[in-house]
Amino acid sequence: MQSVAWDDDELAGIAMVDRYHQHLKEQVDELLGACFASQGPEVVARIIERMINSTPGHFAEEEAMLAQAGYERIVEHKRAHREFSESLKDLQTRLREGASHEISNDALLLLSRWLKGHVEVERRELESFLMAKRVA
Ligand SMILES: [Fe+2]
Repeated sequence: MQSVAWDDDELAGIAMVDRYHQHLKEQVDELLGACFASQGPEVVARIIERMINSTPGHFAEEEAMLAQAGYERIVEHKRAHREFSESLKDLQTRLREGASHEISNDALLLLSRWLKGHVEVERRELESFLMAKRVA
């Protein structure tokens, strides 16, 4: 088995992306918890608003790191960020328009898409990319 010694910057970059993704997962978990506990639209709306306010800064820093590393899938990664942000805003709009019982299903779908399509896959892809860079 080939051992790969990433440099400190690359390790720090992966750790940063992981941290942001983990933070996002925690927020989505909180959102799901609020939905399952039927805490009401006000609580759900507050969590969504907090996520809408906190994610752009996180995404921007993450994307800057990926761009600096020359990450080849940055366009897809940015698109996933944008879709996630748009889904959150869509949820917020529908909550404001009075939707309630559909929110938990939407949140579940959002979580599922995010976890499968972004956090896990992107981490693997990013690691592969950095590994390939090291051995090239
Ligand atoms: Fe990301």
